[in-house]
Amino acid sequence: MAKPDLFQPWTLRDVTFPNRIFVSPMCQYSAEDGYPNDWHFVHLGSRAVGGAGLVMLEATAVTPEGRISPGDLGIWSDDHISEFKRNVDFIHAQGTAAGVQLGHAGRKASCAAPWVDGGRALTADEGAWQTVGPSAVAFSEDSPTPHALSVDEIGEIIEAFVAAARRAEAAGMDMIEIHGAHGYLLHEFLSPLANRRDDEYGGSLENRCRLALEITQAVRAVWPANKPLFFRISASDFAEGGWTIEDTVQLAAWLKDAGVDVLDCSGGGNVPNPDIPVGPGYQTEFAARVKRETGLATGAVGMITDPVQAEHIVHSGQADCVLLARELLRDPYFALRAAAELHGDVHDNIDVPKQYRRAFR
Ligand SMILES: Cc1cc2nc3c(=O)[nH]c(=O)nc-3n(C[C@H](O)[C@H](O)[C@H](O)COP(=O)(O)O)c2cc1C
Repeated sequence: MAKPDLFQPWTLRDVTFPNRIFVSPMCQYSAEDGYPNDWHFVHLGSRAVGGAGLVMLEATAVTPEGRISPGDLGIWSDDHISEFKRNVDFIHAQGTAAGVQLGHAGRKASCAAPWVDGGRALTADEGAWQTVGPSAVAFSEDSPTPHALSVDEIGEIIEAFVAAARRAEAAGMDMIEIHGAHGYLLHEFLSPLANRRDDEYGGSLENRCRLALEITQAVRAVWPANKPLFFRISASDFAEGGWTIEDTVQLAAWLKDAGVDVLDCSGGGNVPNPDIPVGPGYQTEFAARVKRETGLATGAVGMITDPVQAEHIVHSGQADCVLLARELLRDPYFALRAAAELHGDVHDNIDVPKQYRRAFR
C-alpha cells in the first residue's frame, strides 16, 4: 500500500521536512529575559523525539516590548542565539526540521501568563510596560490603550524583525514564520477593527497590508534564499466589520509575490468574544481556499486531533501540512502513533528513534 501523504517528505527551497505533521507554535510563558531554558529543551525535544516533521518554537519576540508576557521567548539580542541553537541542534539530531515564529504582541503585550487570572494585563507593580498598536484603540475594556506608532517607530519594528531573522539564521533554524495572526501587532494593522490610521499604513486594504508586506520583504531579503519563509494569518476576525477570508486571499497573493512559501491559516484573536464555529478542522477551509485561489502552499491548523483526519487534509489537497497544538501537548508522540495507525509499515512511514524501536514492530 502507498505511503500516506502525511508521511511524504516535503521539500521547500533546500529544506526537506520528513513529514507533514508540524508542531504549531505554542507559548510556554516560561522564559526569563527571552532565553529558552530546560523547560523549552525538554518540551521541544520531546516533540522532536515524537517524530514531528517540523518543531516550530513559540512566538518569539523581536523586542522586549513585543512580548505577550514577561515569560515569552525573545531574540532581540545576539546573546540569545546560543540558547536557541542548543534546541535547534537537538531537534536536528532527531532528523527533523527546526523553526521559530517571530512576532510582536502589539496592543496585546504586557500581560500575565494565562494561568494567572486568565492572562490579565500586568499592573505597574508587576512591571507593566507601554503597549503599542496602529491606533490608540484598546483590545478590550480591561486592556490598556496602546500608543499609536509613528512612522519612524514602525521602521524600528521592521528593523527588529530583520535583526531577529538574522539571529534565527545564526541559530541554525530551517524556517521562520512571521506571526501575522491572533490579534498581535501585524494583525492589528491588517484589521479595520484595530487600525484607524489615516496615513499610508491605514484606510485601504493595501495600506493596512503595508506593514505585513514591508516586514515580509525586509525579512526575505536577509533570510537565506535556500530556506522557506512562512507567514501565519488569522484568515478571519470572525467579527462584524473585521478582516475577512476575501482579504486573506488578496494578501496571500501579495505575500506569495514577496517570497512567502507557506501561509499558515489560523483565525481570530482580534476581538474579545468572537463568534467562532469551533469544531474538528474548523479552519481547514481557509487553507483550502487560499491554496485553491492563489496557488500558495498552505498549512491547516485548528482542532486537528486524529491521524485519519490529518491524512485526509493533506491527501485531499486542502493543505500541504497540518499544524497541531493541543493534541501535541496531550501526546508528544502523535506522529509516531499516526505512523503506526495509518496504512503501511510504521518504519516505512517514519524514522522511529532507535531507542524506542522495540515499541513499534
Ligand atoms: C499553550 C498554547 C500556546 C499557544 N501559543 C501560540 C503561539 O505562540 N503562536 C501562535 O501563533 N499560536 C499559538 N497558539 C495557538 C496554536 O498554535 C493553534 O493555532 C491553536 O491552538 C489551534 O490549534 P489546536 O486546535 O491544534 O490546539 C497557542 C496555543 C496553545 C494551546
